[in-house]
Amino acid sequence: MKIINSIQDYRNQYGASIMDPEAFWSDVAEDFVWRRKWDKVLEWDFRKPEVKWFVGGKLNITENCIDRHLPARANQTAILWESNNPNEASIKITYQSLSENVGRVGNMLKAHGVKKGDRVCIYMPMVPEVAYAILGCARIGAVHSVVFAGFSSGSLVDRINDSGCKLVLTADGAFRGDKKIDLKAIVDEALLKCPTVKTCIVFQRTKSSLTLKPSRDFWWHDELGKVDAVCPAEVMDAEDMLFILYTSGSTGKPKGMVHTCGGYMVYTDYTFKTVFQYNEGQVFWCTADVGWITGHSYILYGPLSAGATTLMFEGIPSWPDMGRFWHAIEKHKVNIFYTAPTAIRSLEKAPISFVEKYDLSSLKILGTVGEPINEEAWHWYDHNIGKNKCPIVDTWWQTETGGMMISPIAHVTKLKPAHATLPLPGVQPAVMDENGKEMEGNGIEGRLTLKFPWPAMARTIYGDHQRFKDTYFSTFPGKYFTGDGCKRDEDGNYRITGRVDDIIIVSGHNMGTAEIESAIDEHSAVCESAVVGFPHDIKGQGVYAFVVTYDPVHEESHLRNEIREVVSKIIGPIAKPDKIQFVSGLPKTRSGKIMRRILRKVAEGDTSNLGDTTTLLDPSVVEEIKRGALG
Ligand code: WT7
Repeated sequence: MKIINSIQDYRNQYGASIMDPEAFWSDVAEDFVWRRKWDKVLEWDFRKPEVKWFVGGKLNITENCIDRHLPARANQTAILWESNNPNEASIKITYQSLSENVGRVGNMLKAHGVKKGDRVCIYMPMVPEVAYAILGCARIGAVHSVVFAGFSSGSLVDRINDSGCKLVLTADGAFRGDKKIDLKAIVDEALLKCPTVKTCIVFQRTKSSLTLKPSRDFWWHDELGKVDAVCPAEVMDAEDMLFILYTSGSTGKPKGMVHTCGGYMVYTDYTFKTVFQYNEGQVFWCTADVGWITGHSYILYGPLSAGATTLMFEGIPSWPDMGRFWHAIEKHKVNIFYTAPTAIRSLEKAPISFVEKYDLSSLKILGTVGEPINEEAWHWYDHNIGKNKCPIVDTWWQTETGGMMISPIAHVTKLKPAHATLPLPGVQPAVMDENGKEMEGNGIEGRLTLKFPWPAMARTIYGDHQRFKDTYFSTFPGKYFTGDGCKRDEDGNYRITGRVDDIIIVSGHNMGTAEIESAIDEHSAVCESAVVGFPHDIKGQGVYAFVVTYDPVHEESHLRNEIREVVSKIIGPIAKPDKIQFVSGLPKTRSGKIMRRILRKVAEGDTSNLGDTTTLLDPSVVEEIKRGALG
């Protein structure tokens, strides 16, 4: 792989990657361990859509993330684990130990009848075992489907059933700040509705009391004790499924994005090394949860493939106090720190003494991901954390893209606050106008699409290829539509302006408004609802719900709490509405479509110009909604 050292270098390599993508990616892919070399680099047709990379190639991603680093890096720390509790000792897992632990989990799964292609659900806290679980699946060719351990049992049911998981890996509980969450109780409730799950293996973390269901449930430590640490890697086709990860859709149920082995491996490794300019021996910390794509690609696969030391943190940034991140950076001499704008904004509100207490001089590079970062937060991060000497890489990408797409390359790309800047090599953005025409030149604003495949792109939605086509390839035929709006400035820098569809991003978590609405509607007093996002100081976007009830509401705050509880139970606490406004009707067009544009304006507190409301069925509801708007 060629390292990019200067902007000229970037321009040359970017140019080469566009001129001859196959030669470019084939050259990058040479640096991996393949059991069989590919016959053809790429086959694609966005109209079907169908994309295949490294066709005919055979590999196992864990041989690249683990075995190839042995014995040279046997004693180097692969995963550095920091507990939720600052007084509990941190753990260093060497590449040798990672190999053995992953091998054991692979063998444990096999002993329970898991075979190549079977789906395994992972619902676990941020403990080293979740890494062993993920890589253990990959080792034997089982497809992992990680569900963020903050999701409710209802969300877990949907995800398990959609992909027909056979086995669940979980824990008794999770520590999050001063809270303890009983994960196994949530799993028990879910499994009542999951007929495909035959086995559940429980890791002990919180020592919560629980009962194991005979012949279904097993203790992790018992099962692990029965198996060997050596587990041969299953030989996978480059296009075999590696994992499924669910992301919210703008309508209906979550979408199980399917990622495959070869392209995903090559792309996460390449982007990790390129964007962060990773150097041998550095400590990298991505603060995401492994339940999100960021955790998959940049806590585990990318860094481990690169032979890095990756820090995994079990806790939250605000506990026991607002200095927790900065404390951990000092303690572990973190060199590269990658977090979310929402975390930066919340930490920015705390007294600066929480930052000043710690020595952050180990830091070389900072990163952000998940949502647009506002300029103020960017400058705070730059000044107080980076001490004006660390480049900030504002990385734009998606669950669907598998890896970073538009981002500065540290020390190479000229930074511009709140801009994701330039496309990485191999990435071909096209900005579209409202008539579906590609806009040429700079100084433009439109919808962001990608007109050429990249190796880590999702290949389909599990079990629903038609939906994959409809969602991503139909708005602009022949192009992948991201769902985001963007601007391209005079120098060609991209600024992502946010979603243009019905998806909102709350604290960096992607949520479909339709999903929240259907949860609200489960409350027996609710007739219908409409959810929109509104600007929120810390979370980026908050959830604003307009709710129509069957009967007049007497105790508003009581009903609000009940609705929040229902949403928390059905989706999870992250989806709870911040604001609930009771209204007698929703602004609908004659064809019955809710005019969200109007609700968005109201939620933003800007009711001066609501645009044309004459097409509404009943324009008078708008006046009522304006009067009742919550500030
Ligand atoms: C959406 C994807 C990528 C992992 C985390 C989120 C928004 C992401 C940025 C950024 C502006 C961003 C987009 C995108 N987004 N990164 N640097 N600047 N917006 O993954 O849950 O699939 O969400 O997050 O709107 O479409 P996700």
